[in-house]
Amino acid sequence: MVKTSHFERMAKYYDRATKILMLGTYGKVRERIVSEPAVERALDLCCGTGYVTGHINAKTVVALDMSPGMLRVNRDKNRERRHVNITVGDAFRLPFADNSFDAVYNTLAAHEFKKISNIVSEAYRVLRPGGRLVLYDFSYPDNIFLRYTYLPFVKHIVELGTFFVYNGEGWGKILKEAGFIDVESESLYGASILMRARK
Ligand SMILES: C[S@@+](CC[C@H](N)C(=O)[O-])C[C@H]1O[C@@H](n2cnc3c(N)ncnc32)[C@H](O)[C@@H]1O
Repeated sequence: MVKTSHFERMAKYYDRATKILMLGTYGKVRERIVSEPAVERALDLCCGTGYVTGHINAKTVVALDMSPGMLRVNRDKNRERRHVNITVGDAFRLPFADNSFDAVYNTLAAHEFKKISNIVSEAYRVLRPGGRLVLYDFSYPDNIFLRYTYLPFVKHIVELGTFFVYNGEGWGKILKEAGFIDVESESLYGASILMRARK
């Protein structure tokens, strides 16, 4: 389990640090993630400071995270967006009924969890039949330059057991085991992956 105290400390700097880490792809990647058809009700799971919260195409967006500090930043950012509801909660035990969302988004968070399949199962449970999962995270690099620079670093932190990443095939297995169908993967900028699937 991720220590939320880490995110409490990070909250103020998180957006700036993420923009730097994403090397100029921050806005473009977000556009791609939220390029989904409009839905009634979406869940931003492990929403943090709200990288995508206010940009999701939905009449109602519920944004859930375990860190009050990260949520404070998110709330400030989305103060004017009346359709955004921010709530503290645990992704492993979602406080929502079965089949209660049309879409679930999870961005830049999956690498934090050793037992990501438990969170994926919760996402599946709260999605209505036909609902969409949109998951974005770091991945094993698939471009030649990053394979010789960033890949050894990623492999090292994965081996240390502090960072959990998957390629399209790995994600495909996790999502299908949870029951998802129509699983699609898209590599973004050679070092991250966008997964889409349907319940
Ligand atoms: C790296 S941040 C990603 C935030 C955001 N989705 C983004 O795209 O920037 C990971 C988030 O997961 C949250 N988190 C960690 N464990 C959690 C849990 N068990 N339930 C809900 N949120 C959790 C952290 O508080 C943190 O805000």
